[in-house]
Amino acid sequence: MKNTIKILAAAVVMISVVSCQKDSKPNYQYMPNMYEPVSYEAYGEYGVFPGGQEAMLPAEGSIPRGWMPYEIENSNVGYQFAKDSLKNAIRYTKENEDAGKELYNIYCAICHGEKGDGKGTLVKREKILGVPSYDDVGRAITEGSIYHVMYYGINSMGSYASQTSEHERWQIVQYVQKLKADLEGKTPRIDTDVVVAETKLEEEHHESTEDHSNAH
Ligand code: HEC
Repeated sequence: MKNTIKILAAAVVMISVVSCQKDSKPNYQYMPNMYEPVSYEAYGEYGVFPGGQEAMLPAEGSIPRGWMPYEIENSNVGYQFAKDSLKNAIRYTKENEDAGKELYNIYCAICHGEKGDGKGTLVKREKILGVPSYDDVGRAITEGSIYHVMYYGINSMGSYASQTSEHERWQIVQYVQKLKADLEGKTPRIDTDVVVAETKLEEEHHESTEDHSNAH
């Protein structure tokens, strides 16, 4: 008998708790901290921020991760400075040359031609004028000047700063240098020290495994 009363009492409590729920209204939150974040929510509205908005512009001078600022300015002085002193930041390896070739054929060959002689499809169809050959003596392009014009563009040639990363631009520079050397009948630069360093490492590794097997 006592048990029946207890069960009944429990049932009444449970029903009264459940029956408070109304589908048309948000339900009670017993422990709001478990639902509402304590921190500010991205894009939330909060009075403490200027404009009442959580999302704000990055502080002036912020640099996105993985992006390097290019400090040489877009002017004749900047161009000349880059031409004389800016050096390729990556090694001239076969891999970088191949990657550069692929990018070059996507972005540049349409005007400059696959050989870099200034006879791309757009030039042949007379859609664009004044595309130089990379061995143009008057221009005497250097790795620095190639990078600079790719970054800012030059006259009717646009900028490639947003389509390409810094690394990719240097790979294209290497390939343009190779095309220039081919046009001039010179040997394109390939840095061999990288290959040497790698084979050395391999040899060392090899020796150590041999030692290991001898010991057994
Ligand atoms: C829409 C056609 C077009 C495309 C695409 C193009 N260029 Fe050019 N490029 C030009 C023209 C036109 C000039 C000559 C600009 C001038 O000096 O008036 C030029 C000039 C150059 C020069 C010589 C600049 C100097 O220092 O005198 C280089 C180097 C160069 N381009 C590299 C590239 C590379 C690398 C790409 C690909 C990332 C590229 N171009 C894509 C049209 C193009």
